[in-house]
Amino acid sequence: MDHNKSIVVLDFGGQYAHLIARRVRQCGVYSEIKDADTSAQELKNAAGIILSGGPQSVYDSKSPQGDTAIFDLDIPVLGICYGLQWMAKALGGEVKQGEVKEYGKANLKVESGKWKVIEGIPDKMQVWMSHGDEVTGLPEGFEQIGTSEDCTNAFIANTSSNVYGVQFHPEVVHTDNGQTLIENFVKMCDVAPWSIKSYIDHVGDSLKKEVGDRKVFMLVSGGVDSTVAFVLLNQVLGEDRVQGLYVDTGMMRKDETKQIDAAFTKLGIKNLRMEDASEYFIMKLKEVYEPEGKRWIIGDAFLSVQKRVSEEMNLKMEDGWMLGQGTIYPDTIETGETKNADKIKTHHNRIPEIQKMMDEGFVVEPLRELYKDEVRALGEELGLPHDLVWRHPFPGPGLGVRILCAKEEVRSAKCEVRSDVVHAALPIKSVGVQGDGRSYKHAVALFNDQKFANEECWDLATSIPNESADFNRVLMCTSHESPPEFVFSPGYVTEDRAEVLREADAIVHDEMVKAGLYESIWQFPVVLLPFGTSEGGLSIVLRPVESQEAMTANAVDLPQNVVSNMTQQLLALAGVDVVFQDLTHKPPGTIEWE
Ligand code: XMP
Repeated sequence: MDHNKSIVVLDFGGQYAHLIARRVRQCGVYSEIKDADTSAQELKNAAGIILSGGPQSVYDSKSPQGDTAIFDLDIPVLGICYGLQWMAKALGGEVKQGEVKEYGKANLKVESGKWKVIEGIPDKMQVWMSHGDEVTGLPEGFEQIGTSEDCTNAFIANTSSNVYGVQFHPEVVHTDNGQTLIENFVKMCDVAPWSIKSYIDHVGDSLKKEVGDRKVFMLVSGGVDSTVAFVLLNQVLGEDRVQGLYVDTGMMRKDETKQIDAAFTKLGIKNLRMEDASEYFIMKLKEVYEPEGKRWIIGDAFLSVQKRVSEEMNLKMEDGWMLGQGTIYPDTIETGETKNADKIKTHHNRIPEIQKMMDEGFVVEPLRELYKDEVRALGEELGLPHDLVWRHPFPGPGLGVRILCAKEEVRSAKCEVRSDVVHAALPIKSVGVQGDGRSYKHAVALFNDQKFANEECWDLATSIPNESADFNRVLMCTSHESPPEFVFSPGYVTEDRAEVLREADAIVHDEMVKAGLYESIWQFPVVLLPFGTSEGGLSIVLRPVESQEAMTANAVDLPQNVVSNMTQQLLALAGVDVVFQDLTHKPPGTIEWE
């Protein structure tokens, strides 16, 4: 797609680039992410360039490097954190390697009114910092325009060439007026306005060009992304050139298949085939314990079913059929698509076989440039019903990722919590995201008489993963006042376990709707853990989060009566002995458990 005159965010690592790109789009301007070392030649039509932060030090031997010729392009540049440091060093300034990391809130002082880039920004404000190194000597032509207690050159500028640098992160919500700062930068760039409406105007043409005279076969899960992608393809190419396939994996939510069938029938869509492959998926997952292994197998199983069905329906690649996917922009980074992003997990639509098809030009992803809220806006523009567009996100591999599997228990090191809160380390590990990379660590559970998280518990949820190398999650036990003797239940994904989780998920969903919380909670995974208090017993984790794009998320403090209603009903389910609520934000926890 031709996005000349957009803002390019160069990805220097970590999770920052997406947040920045989102903030730019919120200014009504298109943004795209490219690798840090993209050549100046390739960037010459950009309206502006933002250099993202990243976890490394410019002194690391493998630290990401940009093309210094970008500073000769006469395009405004904003460097953030690592981006600032790389820029300062590249332009002849001095960067000092920090001994301690400054992490968290800091007070920034600027001389407001003097520079355009800080228009509308007060003299003093709180900003969010996360760095070790700092710029100690300014490159020629630069001046300092803001400073904080621990960082002298917190904000620098070369106003004659429109190059700016900030040590703090304007893209995170913890920085006051961060959006104003980004807007000020965007205003200095020669950008074309962009909106989802303008996107629809040209996405049709570009899709037609990409698909040519071929036809598209696509998996539809009933989730927001694949539904919008499928309906868009139907509208652009016509139903006779698109075939949808819904696969029941046996790891769907309760009544999901019926509801999807009804919703698509109501929309008048006739080119969606419903396929029950639950036995096949469950059989494939037999004795698979490792989370990434599960993801790969589920991804492969989708592809096998798709192949079988396309053969049955005689839809061959050599006859001009290609594969459609509902991949959205952030999905690509979670799988480590840009060079400097660490791989957190493999999304089912990025397994190697699909990657190969992509390289050969057999995959079309109409939403790959959009963020979730933009996909929802597009869905509404396409006339999809509100309820379908505003469904909570649900992962492609379904309940399969949320059934934690383990062959044997993994006892952790003792957790020293500096408080009188009763706690217990749990005998499982799960995936988290820390320091911009994947972690696989234990969870610790807190207990009290109320069986409800108080302020201290919420504080511990932040401090424990920060201070201990052993834990990436903190839970509140909502079923027990003190730690019971946990009995471990080795196991993998089975029909029985999927059924327990399906029922648990339905209970939680109904209670959430009854309490009027569906719209305010972004996503509410319900997780099954392989231990209880009896032989074969299991535990359930409630994981309500609020988020914008799933890149970061806050655990939601549910009303006490909702937690206790859910807990009581869950304990009444056969096989469920213990209930927890996850208090961990993302980072350090991920939204899903696996
Ligand atoms: P995490 O757990 O990484 O999840 O914080 C971020 C968001 O991504 C969703 N998710 C997936 N969606 N296929 C998907 O379509 C997947 O394989 C997948 N894995 C996680 C997750 O539900 C959350 O919204």
